[in-house]
Parts: sequence; structure tokens; C-alpha cells
Amino acid sequence: MARTSRRVKVGGVIRPPGDKSITHRALIVSALTHSSVSITGSLDSADARRTAVVLRQLGAEIDSFERGRAVQVRGRQWTAPSSTLDCGNSGTTARLMLGALAGHDFRARLTGDSSLRRRPMLRVTEPLAAMGASISDRDGDGMPIDIQGGKLRSISYESPVASAQVKSAILLAGLTGGVPVTVIEPVRSRDHTERLFKFLGFDIRVEGTTVRLHGATENWPQIASFDLTIPGDPSSAAFLVGAAVLAEHGELLIECVGVNPTRTGFLAVLQRMGAQVEQLNLREMAGEPVADLMVKSHPLTGTEIVADEIPSLIDEIPLLAALAARAHGETTFRSVGELRVKESDRLALITENLRAIGGTAEIQGEDLVVVGSRQPLRGRVETAGDHRLTMSFAVLGTTPASDIELSESESAGVSYPNFFSDLDRLFTDA
Ligand code: S3P
Repeated sequence: MARTSRRVKVGGVIRPPGDKSITHRALIVSALTHSSVSITGSLDSADARRTAVVLRQLGAEIDSFERGRAVQVRGRQWTAPSSTLDCGNSGTTARLMLGALAGHDFRARLTGDSSLRRRPMLRVTEPLAAMGASISDRDGDGMPIDIQGGKLRSISYESPVASAQVKSAILLAGLTGGVPVTVIEPVRSRDHTERLFKFLGFDIRVEGTTVRLHGATENWPQIASFDLTIPGDPSSAAFLVGAAVLAEHGELLIECVGVNPTRTGFLAVLQRMGAQVEQLNLREMAGEPVADLMVKSHPLTGTEIVADEIPSLIDEIPLLAALAARAHGETTFRSVGELRVKESDRLALITENLRAIGGTAEIQGEDLVVVGSRQPLRGRVETAGDHRLTMSFAVLGTTPASDIELSESESAGVSYPNFFSDLDRLFTDA
């Protein structure tokens, strides 16, 4: 059982770990090439390691992750795995790998941990089956899943959900199957796959919420060796931003954070709530915008987060809800039903946990409403092994006079292995 610690003044400079979404994509696409790729700044976490393990089972050579060293990937023609591909807790590994496997003429079985086995997969398996992959799963919508890929058909797919995992699975199927694909989303989701494909020179075009991959040439895997540099993860940086905003004094410089607009909805919302976050030294890394963030502590006021904003901050809702619990007034998150099918039922657990520590939160249909207060928050929260719940409540636990007990803290290792020591490092004695 972990107890959060209370501190009042932030200061210094910190760098978040590498971007999880981009790391998965960089590893998968590199493993599909028949060349050598050097990836600098990749995330070394439980989820990223899962993708590497699965890719090794298919034949790719991937160096062990060593702190501070670029990861070398030597891709090659994938071959049938001799055992089940275990995606652990990682929905991105599962869904993107299904897409990448769809164009390969062999059978593979994918599974995951108890959380991942509960998550919906039909959103990916349906369009992949429509492209011609043969897919069977145990219960009709979940892992374990058997996939037999091969010759695929082109697809134009109107996705009912704004999901980068769905979009990326179809794009990867188009790439490995050598067929053109079009994905139309209700609202634009994170576009890292599109940016990576563009960076590598693939013929991919984006118009509003429509993405078209015009098929890849048969010999695209013979691409010349290349280097990729991955920015810091804005979703991990968000916890540092949150802790700095909640502190009583001080300012924090967070270096090398990805500021891709499909990921930074939380910064726009925080600004609306009164936070002061400045983007400095804007630059680019492998087709992704990057900046340093200067954050100052500041009181917050409630806001309304509308449905169209949700995809750009989907992973930051637990943190924003925690911050809303300290804001003046009410914060409403519209149309957040997707939270029910994340690593845990985040909608239920955010609400129950905020209430368990003396906060006010309510689910109204598909909306989440949090009412802020300056009262100390005290009690035990059940994080259900969900990394983002763990880190969100740990941030809330840094506020003066609060006393929050986390049911576990290990899950932070899914995306941010050094989170607790970094959180400690932010604070100087007041
Ligand atoms: C991700 C997409 C999002 C996000 C997840 C990572 C990705 O999921 O919540 O943490 O890397 O593509 P959905 O595609 O289910 O929205």
C-alpha cells in the first residue's frame, strides 16, 4: 500500500519518459522493415517492452532496452510465432499488432492480462475481417484472438469511434497487405501513425477526419536504414504539469514534451481553468512537434469539456478529474463513455475514488461531473492496477493536508517507471 506525500513548492527541470504511443509505432514499423533502425528516446516501460517481446517472437531483432541508449531494431520478414503473443496490459500492442499481422500469411494467437482480455476488440477485428483477414475470438469480442492474415482487400472504413488504435490497425493492415485504405473518423484521434508514415515517405494523405494510405510498393520494407527520435510523452508530462499547477508556489520546466495538437487537449483545458503553461523552444522530432513546458502553480476554476475535445485528452481525463476536485466550481466532461473500456472502468473508478476521499463526483448518463473543493482529501483509493488512476491520485495526494492511500503503485510502470521518484524530485522545501 503506497501513501502519497504532501509538499508545497515545486521547482527545477525535469524530462518525462518517451512517448508510449510513438514508441509502439516506431518498434512495429521498424520491425516490419528489412533494415536497421536506431530509435533514440524510446519509452522503456512494461507496455513498450511487451511490444518488443511480441515483435521478437515474429523474427525481429530488437536490442534490450538500456537506460539512455538508443534501441536498435533489425527488422525482417515476419514468420509464424511458435507460441501465443502476450500483449500484457497493452491495448495499443494488441490492436496495432492485429493490424500489422492482417497482411501476413500465417496464423498467430494474441492474448493479454485480465484487464486487456476484458477490453473490446471487435472495433478492430471487424474492419480487418472485412479486409479479408480470418479472425476468431473466444467470446465474440475479446482476447484471446486467433488471426490468419494473408491477401487483403482495400477498404474505406467509417469508424464509429474516434480511436487511433482502430485507425492505426487499418493503416498497418494496408501497409502489410499492400492495399489502399481509407479511414474516416467521427473526430480526429492522435495522428502518430500518419506522421510516421509520412516521415518514412509513404503516400499517406489527410483531409479533415479522413486518412488515405495509397498502398505501399511491394518492396517498401527494403527501405534504407534510418534513425528516429521520440519526444517525451505528453500524457506522462501531464502528471508533472498537474503537480506543478496544484503546488502552493514555484514553477517547473518540463523538457522535451511532444505537443502534437491531437494530444494536447489537456493543456487547452488547463489554460481555460486558469493554469499557466507556456510552450517554449518549439521544434520538431521525426515529424512530431516538441516543446519545453514552463508551468507555474495557480488556482484553478471549473470548466466544461465538450465531446469533440475528448479524443485529444482521452488519457488525461483521470488527471483532469483529479485537478477538477481542487478547482473552484464544477467541471463537466461530456460524452466520456469510452472511459469504461480503458485499462479499467475509469468512469466508475474516478467517481468512486473521488467520493472515497471526500470529493464530489457524479456520472450523469455519458457525462462526468466533478465539483471542486479546498477541503483536504483523505482516504483510500482503489486503482485496479490502472497506471493512469494511480498517478492521478498520487498527484492529488501532494496537495497540502491531504492523505491519500493508493491500493498499489506498481502499475505506474506500465507507462512511467520512475514516476514516484520524479514526483518527489519536483518538490523543494518551501
Ligand atoms: C492510443 C490510443 C488511445 C489511447 C491509448 C493509446 C494509441 O486509445 O487511449 O492510451 O497509441 O493509439 P483508443 O484508440 O482506444 O482511443
